[in-house]
Amino acid sequence: MKLAHFSDVHVTHFPLSGGFALKRLAAVASYSLAGRGKHFEGSDARIAALLEHVDAQGVDHALCTGDLTGVSTAAELQRAAELFGSRLRAPERFTVIPGNHDRYVEGASGLFEQHFAALCEGATFPAVKPLPSGVTLVLLDAARPTSLIDSSGLIGEAQRSKALSILSDPSLRGRFVIVALHYGLLRMTGHRDSRPHGLRDDVELMRLLDRDDVTVDLVLHGHLHRPFTLRAGRRHVVNAGSATDLHMRCGYNVYDIDVAAHRVGITRHWWNREAGRYEPDVGHALNVTLDTRP
Ligand SMILES: [Fe+2]
Ligand SMILES: [Fe+2]
Repeated sequence: MKLAHFSDVHVTHFPLSGGFALKRLAAVASYSLAGRGKHFEGSDARIAALLEHVDAQGVDHALCTGDLTGVSTAAELQRAAELFGSRLRAPERFTVIPGNHDRYVEGASGLFEQHFAALCEGATFPAVKPLPSGVTLVLLDAARPTSLIDSSGLIGEAQRSKALSILSDPSLRGRFVIVALHYGLLRMTGHRDSRPHGLRDDVELMRLLDRDDVTVDLVLHGHLHRPFTLRAGRRHVVNAGSATDLHMRCGYNVYDIDVAAHRVGITRHWWNREAGRYEPDVGHALNVTLDTRP
């Protein structure tokens, strides 16, 4: 089974049509004055190329772990939806969960769901998506509007409690189980992310995922724009990084999953700016094979 994983594509459209919340204005200043806008300049074209490249890989399924937009205006969500096009009507092939930039301010409430609910089981989390290939996706949502200086996420006790009953169900033991969320469990260094940037209940979630009675093969996320893989306790975690951020060698992952052997081979694809296309990133540190059952 082949699964594509991309994240943090950040459709970035100004001027702001969805309200001038202080947090959005601060983001505009950061994009315009501090140069962040340059990282996502022309991201629409890269997203279109990315989706076509994913389609051309012959993957069984594709997962996006959030941050479709810059400041979650109606126009940005609309544009993201246009770029997905008919894929929005193919939940059997595509899964999308929200990132913090898709719920940037209170005023953005419901915009992500309006376009993308069909790709995450109605956007009621935790969501469970069993795929015909033997892979089961368990989707968590930690994205929420926060204050001006806060981009942290929170799964919350209610969602964690439901996730525990889903993941400890014996029927999952014969499946290849992937937990997908926007936020990472740890930074690339293996340390916790900072309080204003990371998952507030990271410790609680890692404790849950590390339990003996819980079935998990892989944890997939984005949010941190540089990709990496690491171990959090007994679980393998893969961060796809940003697929479109020009500040770094951006790209996406394809996972070749052997469900019965509980093994996954990772192939990194990167955006070749000169050639104007995504292509295999030969020799990337992420191109490894992992045995996923502890
Ligand atoms: Fe992001
Ligand atoms: Fe994010």
